[in-house]
Amino acid sequence: MAKRLIIANWKMNPATLKEARALFQATKKKASTVARASVVIAPPSVYLAFCKPSKKVLLGAQNVAWADKGAFTGEISAVQLANLNVTYVIVGHSERRFLGETDEIISKKIKSVLKQSLIPVLCIGELERDNHGAYLRMVEDQIRKSLAGIGRESLAKVVIAYEPVWAIGKSSDEAVNSHKLHEMTIFIRKILSGMCGRDLAHKVQIIYGGSVEAKNALELIQNGNVSGFLVGHASLDIKGFGEIVKAVDARG
Ligand code: PGA
Repeated sequence: MAKRLIIANWKMNPATLKEARALFQATKKKASTVARASVVIAPPSVYLAFCKPSKKVLLGAQNVAWADKGAFTGEISAVQLANLNVTYVIVGHSERRFLGETDEIISKKIKSVLKQSLIPVLCIGELERDNHGAYLRMVEDQIRKSLAGIGRESLAKVVIAYEPVWAIGKSSDEAVNSHKLHEMTIFIRKILSGMCGRDLAHKVQIIYGGSVEAKNALELIQNGNVSGFLVGHASLDIKGFGEIVKAVDARG
């Protein structure tokens, strides 16, 4: 079983460097006693250079350019992220897909991340659920296209973050339940098995994101068949995030 993983996605928060530093330090403190999970903080890129990762807290980026260098105003490359001690890179978050990012661009980004030996966290997830299985086709399509052209061995290094869009930014009551989550992880692993074989597919870490809070973290980690979480708004609340980390660590 892969080590458990909790990624804090701060999104476009907080407003000042002072607050970012304070939140980073406080999160580091909460993570200092964690034994069985890796904690990753993905701050806005402007704060990356000010956040020093440690053994217990690794650094993540929220986005990356698909190119290594060149005339790409406003973009940040995987080469540059690697130089800032980043370990994980979130790719294809739904909030970026809404800005026009396609599966084809995402696949190029993942290749660029892997080339620097960084770990891509591929976000996938349906917009809504229906009774005819269209949401499953959407998830399958995202996985196949986003991972197109990536070698079998490299596929096993990708972390998949299942983030149903309807569950993002709500409250724990509106998140996916552990039963539905468990079903989806089986579906995702089946697709991966078809792409890279059963053994490698079982190495892929699948985590969940979408209104993970202190209230639902334990139930989801115990019965959802995931090895961790991508946490948005709750990662800005140090007490709540500490409880999520504790829940994941307790599960072992
Ligand atoms: P949320 O965000 O925890 O606020 O729902 C998760 C995400 O978008 O990664």
